[in-house]
Amino acid sequence: MPSLDGYDTILLASPIWNVRAPMIMTTFTEALDFRGKIVHPITTYAMSGLGTTERDYAASCPGATIAEGLAVRGEEVKDADTEVEAWLRRIRLPVR
Ligand SMILES: Cc1cc2nc3c(=O)[nH]c(=O)nc-3n(C[C@H](O)[C@H](O)[C@H](O)COP(=O)(O)O)c2cc1C
Repeated sequence: MPSLDGYDTILLASPIWNVRAPMIMTTFTEALDFRGKIVHPITTYAMSGLGTTERDYAASCPGATIAEGLAVRGEEVKDADTEVEAWLRRIRLPVR
């Protein structure tokens, strides 16, 4: 992805590895200009929830606003529609 121009809100989704997002996520965020963007972390996890993703993205996305995240237990992803839709409504993104 060459540029984030044209996007105001960005969802950064990954599994949690060692209580943070996998290194490739930081490689991605550090390569782009997130200034003025709203960033929502999303994780799947076994026990760590969002882990340190909010802090990590705050550090690797300077100038971005880190907004409400969503953490879904990996084993429960298939049954998480209601939770995901409620979260999308809370952050004012279209549900479908
Ligand atoms: C290398 C590795 C490290 C992981 N570290 C964590 C961790 O620190 N905390 C956690 O809750 N889950 C951890 N997990 C579990 C993954 O987050 C989980 O596998 C992923 O969210 C997908 O869920 P599922 O395996 O139930 O489909 C780790 C998985 C791997 C492969």
